[in-house]
Amino acid sequence: MYTACIFDLDGVICHTDEFHFLAWKRLCDTLGLRFDRSVNNLLRGVSRRESLEIILRHNNTSLDEKDIHGAMEKKNEWYREYLERMVPSDLEDDVLPLLSDLKGRGMKLAIGSSSRNARLILGRLGIMDVFDAVADGTMISHSKPHPQVFLVAASLLDAEPSRCVVVEDAHAGIQAAQSAGMACIAYRLPNDDLGKGVLHASNFTEIGKLLK
Ligand code: BG6
Ligand code: MG
Repeated sequence: MYTACIFDLDGVICHTDEFHFLAWKRLCDTLGLRFDRSVNNLLRGVSRRESLEIILRHNNTSLDEKDIHGAMEKKNEWYREYLERMVPSDLEDDVLPLLSDLKGRGMKLAIGSSSRNARLILGRLGIMDVFDAVADGTMISHSKPHPQVFLVAASLLDAEPSRCVVVEDAHAGIQAAQSAGMACIAYRLPNDDLGKGVLHASNFTEIGKLLK
């Protein structure tokens, strides 16, 4: 039924969502801004700049353009320090078996991520070659919830959007998949109403069962 599976990266393939949280927290502590896990959840799937704008709005404050760039650079520097420590064994045990099972069934695999660090992360985890295509933050002008990154992934795979399924841990990503006309599996998200037809999974073994 599906010919391609497009995976979000941060918070789905790997736990880099926690590194984003830690780096934003460190930046906010430095700048005297309020930041907690509920604000962090609003940043899932959205670009670095939009994330900073959400944090500033939450604090009813603003920065000039130069300071915005400085803050984004600092956050990314700290974030990349965490990435440097990543190794292939950081992948959860059921990730690679599912990916190879899907490939064995003839499905095309892609990454659809808003991150500009996606290729660095895939390299650290040693899984760059597992994916037939990578659509990332360097290739898009609109981040999720805009569908662009998933449409780019589908086009790189030469797959019809209606025959793609997306795996996502962010509300913005689920909206993006729906706007792209793709099926969607919500990953480790509360079972609230995410819209028509959204499936749920809390590990990769469950994703495999949903795609049988
Ligand atoms: C997404 C994350 O994958 O990438 C967001 O869910 C992040 O939290 C965005 O802001 C951009 O990431 P980066 O690595 O380009 O700063
Ligand atoms: Mg994510």
